[in-house]
Amino acid sequence: YHQTPVITIDGPTASGKGTVAALVAARLGFHLLDSGALYRLAALASLRYDVAPDAADALVALVDDLHITFREGLAQLDGVDVSDDIRAEAIGNRASAIAVHQPVRAALVARQRAFRKQPGLVADGRDMGTVIFPDAALKVFLTASVEARAERRYKQLIQKGFSANMDDLLRDLRERDARDTNRAAAPLKPAADAKLLDTSALSIDEAVDQVVQWYGAQ
Ligand code: CDP
Ligand code: CDP
Repeated sequence: YHQTPVITIDGPTASGKGTVAALVAARLGFHLLDSGALYRLAALASLRYDVAPDAADALVALVDDLHITFREGLAQLDGVDVSDDIRAEAIGNRASAIAVHQPVRAALVARQRAFRKQPGLVADGRDMGTVIFPDAALKVFLTASVEARAERRYKQLIQKGFSANMDDLLRDLRERDARDTNRAAAPLKPAADAKLLDTSALSIDEAVDQVVQWYGAQ
């Protein structure tokens, strides 16, 4: 039995996990784990150190001595802020390609669990409720239509100064969802005890309110 509560928020790409998780954590005064950022940092490192996305053993070695820090929402690789660099769609797609390897996932487990500290943690990703924190106090699975998600990601990318194309985004999102859902290692799926929340027609505040209410109600 673990005394530090965890709220897990899993779901497909651009379903709103990161945004909702950060706001729920702020409301409750909890710590935050953006597990996708870890996979994105590993993807960025694999590009920089020229490790192929299918070279599982080399990726594990890379992940084992990844020099990363998270501070106030900023992600650093080797002491340099890369918060914006890891948000590129190409990095998300590469993260998904390296995340299929079970040994790579295993190499990231301890780093993720280390985020569990008092007074509590909100963790978002794909397997937070199913694999990393199976004893979470509340498990949420966010969904939204692929069109709603592509539109959100489009706006987000443009806002960050990346170029984006709606047709490419829709194709990439579908491809990434399929890869994340169909892989053997920790596939994207709701935990048996997860609460489903479709955010297609919800504002961010409404989604946050629902999660906080569920947490308070249990
Ligand atoms: O972390 P994930 O990829 O699941 O999604 P996100 O980066 O948190 O959200 C993608 C975009 O959708 C952000 O720009 C959010 O502001 C937006 N969003 C929204 O418009 N409505 C929601 N209910 C949730 C997120
Ligand atoms: O923001 P978005 O939902 O597009 O992606 P992300 O959460 O930053 O994750 C990027 C990729 O990392 C995903 O497509 C997954 O393949 C992988 N990932 C994973 O396998 N397990 C996690 N807990 C988080 C991310």
